[in-house]
Amino acid sequence: MRAMPEPRWPANVHVSSHPLVAHKLTLLRDTQTQPKQFRELVRELSWLLGYEAMADMATTGKQVETPLEPMTGVRLDLRVGLIPVLRAGLGMVEAMLELMPTAEVWHIGLYRDERTLKPVEYYNKLPDAATVQVCLILDPMLATGGSSAATVDVLKAWGAARIKQVSLIAAPEGIRTLTAAHPDVEVHVAAIDRALNERGYIVPGLGDAGDRQFGTFAGPSSEPGHDLSDTSETAEIVRRLQRRR
Ligand code: PRP
Ligand code: URA
Repeated sequence: MRAMPEPRWPANVHVSSHPLVAHKLTLLRDTQTQPKQFRELVRELSWLLGYEAMADMATTGKQVETPLEPMTGVRLDLRVGLIPVLRAGLGMVEAMLELMPTAEVWHIGLYRDERTLKPVEYYNKLPDAATVQVCLILDPMLATGGSSAATVDVLKAWGAARIKQVSLIAAPEGIRTLTAAHPDVEVHVAAIDRALNERGYIVPGLGDAGDRQFGTFAGPSSEPGHDLSDTSETAEIVRRLQRRR
């Protein structure tokens, strides 16, 4: 059987090819992985992806005295903003702060309406003007791309000049939505999976990244009045996204 050709993604989409990333991502996907190990893996993967995402950051020269002689080294003195998207992005912050201890952390609260798959903003305390030169949006999942595109809209309105999205898993539909709406945003992911299913979940994916990190498996969809047994509206929204090539 002939192998399917790999889809070509725009140059601003970077899929990690590091074997450590692939190994840890496989453990993360496993349904047997419990929240404690899941959080550890999110943290480790964030560190590795953060390292890759910062590879093109500009540095300036810095004089330093080694015990043997003076030399010109470098310093990274960009003002970096980390933008975790609540809730699931929270698990990515600590690793990024280890890499960039002086980064500012600005939280954005968004949840995805389970029926319409549209992002709903519920928390935003950004100050009036942008305080950083580069923003890294942290969100493990880029599914329809709605949450990510909405976060970029908010950051651009804030005045952010340079924006990168760092996610663990993306769906092709989400990559297309984000890169069409914001071709200037660099996207760093551990993997781009096959597709979205009729509920808007990434397949094979890893399930719900927020629930798996925080152990909240009886979330809103099990509450009275939140009947999601009829998935036809959501499935039609996914089909529309899939037709938009
Ligand atoms: C998840 C995920 C993203 C969003 C991705 O959040 O963390 O923010 O869905 O989906 P999209 O690309 O289709 O917009 P969710 O709404 O489950 O909120 P949570 O992090 O609070 O669980
Ligand atoms: N959000 C998740 O947490 N997982 C998905 O597969 C899609 C959206």
